[in-house]
Amino acid sequence: MTVKLSPADERIFRQILAEVCRQSRILQSVHYIQHGSTSVFRHSVAVAYVSFWIVRSLRLAVEARTLIRGALLHDYFLYDWHEKDDSHKWHGFYHAGKALRNAMEDFELNEVEQDMIRRHMFPLNPVPPRHVESWVLCIADKICSGGETAEGIVKRIWQQE
Ligand SMILES: [Fe+2]
Ligand SMILES: [Fe+2]
Repeated sequence: MTVKLSPADERIFRQILAEVCRQSRILQSVHYIQHGSTSVFRHSVAVAYVSFWIVRSLRLAVEARTLIRGALLHDYFLYDWHEKDDSHKWHGFYHAGKALRNAMEDFELNEVEQDMIRRHMFPLNPVPPRHVESWVLCIADKICSGGETAEGIVKRIWQQE
């Protein structure tokens, strides 16, 4: 099974990615490590790509722009959670809220985008997602956090530049 969007969807993905990069501080997250050697930025791009691929593969009727924006911003907490700092304690529990607050400073987010970011740490954060887009993001995030998978997808995405 190959995680690969159609050329048309790939264009949509890149257009929205470029737009989010222009309108936010997301490129700062290039400097923060998520898992292994993968930066938060690369992780977020991979999660958004996989989320979009899942909805297309399952032919789910969701709005591409909402899904991709919500997924790109799900870890928009903008700090290195590996640094020893009291404010980074309990990162797993609190970063979704922090990401949402940061994202709201840069964008007017719709209800679905907000739910995606706020609920992506389910079941660690026990309130379940309300929208299908948020469930897809939850799953894509867990797949990509698996490491190997994220690394492979990420490499492919960047090699196509
Ligand atoms: Fe997260
Ligand atoms: Fe994540």
